[in-house]
Amino acid sequence: MVIFCSPHNPGGRVWSQTELKQLADFVNRHDLILISDEIHHDLTFGAKHTPMVHINGIKDRLIMMTATTKTFNIAGGHVGNVIIENPELQKLFQKRITALGLSPNAFGLHMATAAYSKDGVIWLDALIKYLEKNRRLFDAGINAIPGLKSMQLEATYLAWVDFSATGMTKEEFTRRVQSQAKIAASHGSTFGRGGEYFLRFNIGTTRKNIELAVKKMKVAFKDLQ
Ligand SMILES: Cc1ncc(COP(=O)(O)O)c(C=O)c1O
Repeated sequence: MVIFCSPHNPGGRVWSQTELKQLADFVNRHDLILISDEIHHDLTFGAKHTPMVHINGIKDRLIMMTATTKTFNIAGGHVGNVIIENPELQKLFQKRITALGLSPNAFGLHMATAAYSKDGVIWLDALIKYLEKNRRLFDAGINAIPGLKSMQLEATYLAWVDFSATGMTKEEFTRRVQSQAKIAASHGSTFGRGGEYFLRFNIGTTRKNIELAVKKMKVAFKDLQ
């Protein structure tokens, strides 16, 4: 089984159709099942997201997942969408869900219905515009600090910042972010090997908070400037 995140969290990478086709070919070649987690797919900044279900030759092996929870900030709703075209795979999935005793939350169903409405579309368009400005402000501020590099988000609100060029240990840059700037960022190492010199910042917040965060980061790393 391959568990794949598209668009990617962290870093917000939107995968190209060529990359998705390469993955589909790999999954077929090795006789695997592909779980494509596309929970961040509504939150893209101009880049075109291709749903895995549109990639040729993968449908029979595909479990594709989306949700309203990230897009509309309603994680407590405990509801997601699972798209499986293969009836055998559908049965297997349903059996497992039943065995785990999982069922949708009744309030969550109403929340998801409200999200997938005309009002939801208007709200989402405004949200993307707001996040887009947050992203630009955050990236401009962070990238102006020598040694720090924020990967440009193509989707989502989870910025992935590389601290490797500061020459600091991960304990040192993490201490500065947490204790000096007083920002709670996610530690890169929790996302797997290679993430040790990164921190993930959530920019899904008010513009005021982004401005404040950038200001505090500049102070915490002022010796580099
Ligand atoms: C890629 C991805 N998939 C799934 C989830 C889980 O979302 P939820 O708890 O809303 O189901 C998250 C939450 O952080 C996520 O980033």
